[in-house]
Amino acid sequence: MTSGANFGIHSGYSHPTLREWQQPNTSIGPSNLMYPIFITPDVDGEVEIASMPGVKRWGINKLVTHLKPVVDNGLKSVLLFGVPDETVKDEVGSAADDPERSPVIPAIRVLRKAFPDLVIACDVCLCGFTSHGHCGILTSTGHIDNDKSTKRLAEVALSYATAGCHIVAPSDMMDGRILAIKTSLRQAGFGNKVSVLSYAAKFASCFYGPFRDAAASAPAFGDRKAYQLPPGSSGLAIRAVDRDVSEGADFLMVKPAMIYLDIIKTAKDRHPQLPMFAYQVSGEYATIINAAKAGLYDLDVALSEVLVALRRAGTDVIITYFAPRILAKLNQDK
Ligand code: PBG
Ligand code: ZN
Repeated sequence: MTSGANFGIHSGYSHPTLREWQQPNTSIGPSNLMYPIFITPDVDGEVEIASMPGVKRWGINKLVTHLKPVVDNGLKSVLLFGVPDETVKDEVGSAADDPERSPVIPAIRVLRKAFPDLVIACDVCLCGFTSHGHCGILTSTGHIDNDKSTKRLAEVALSYATAGCHIVAPSDMMDGRILAIKTSLRQAGFGNKVSVLSYAAKFASCFYGPFRDAAASAPAFGDRKAYQLPPGSSGLAIRAVDRDVSEGADFLMVKPAMIYLDIIKTAKDRHPQLPMFAYQVSGEYATIINAAKAGLYDLDVALSEVLVALRRAGTDVIITYFAPRILAKLNQDK
């Protein structure tokens, strides 16, 4: 026992400052947030996403105007998703790294110029660009061809690095892709400039539903259960995290966030030397917004409780569609 036996504990949190002392490392500031953004090829596009109230796909001409107030409120990093036209999709996702057909590449250039201090991360995956909607390249029998997939993902990552992003974030869950990407970045001279944020423990989750609508990336057949993790398996999650650390990942991610706090904690305890990211995914966003709209709770109160929980579990950076709202609130409360 470290404290007096019979005096209870209330005395230790009877004042707001005392309560702050009781919650170390759970505060939220701009560097704890990353904002995911969907880019549409229509340069003047501003498209509502029905399943994610308040989130839009942005064309590059609208992007800077949208982000300016958010950056002014302290935004430090973004995560870009390209959402190409349906017509450009093929078996191998050729459009993913084609500047004419992937809206991500022009978006990187525009953002670098407009916001020189903003950290730009790019999601690296094939599902948004393949005709079959799977995250890798398939064999003739419809299974993942792991070697072809990791090779292709490394090409895509390299092209985003060449376009000027700071971080590549592979979300595909293929085996060995961190090593393939790190190797190709190193060979091309980006070894000390571009980092890899691994979607390391990414579970096969129904909470990605609204995203697949936003990014038009649902699989045309089958599901992702042979590469994304089974929700009940902490064993595989730890092996995936260890694998990615051993292959050279700079940063780790657990995804979804809210219902995987145990995985976040275990992964952070195991690899305290790596910054830990948690992705509050589209379905978590939609769930929280819709429950608040239904009057079940106050949105900002609920959101801050979720953010504190993620930090308490060991998250350093939260990837969240709420980033603009959180930053606005932080400025208001100052
Ligand atoms: C694609 C990808 C997905 C998300 C990020 N990258 C969906 C999926 O794997 O089906 C989910 C993000 C979200 O739901 O907000 N590999
Ligand atoms: Zn994918």
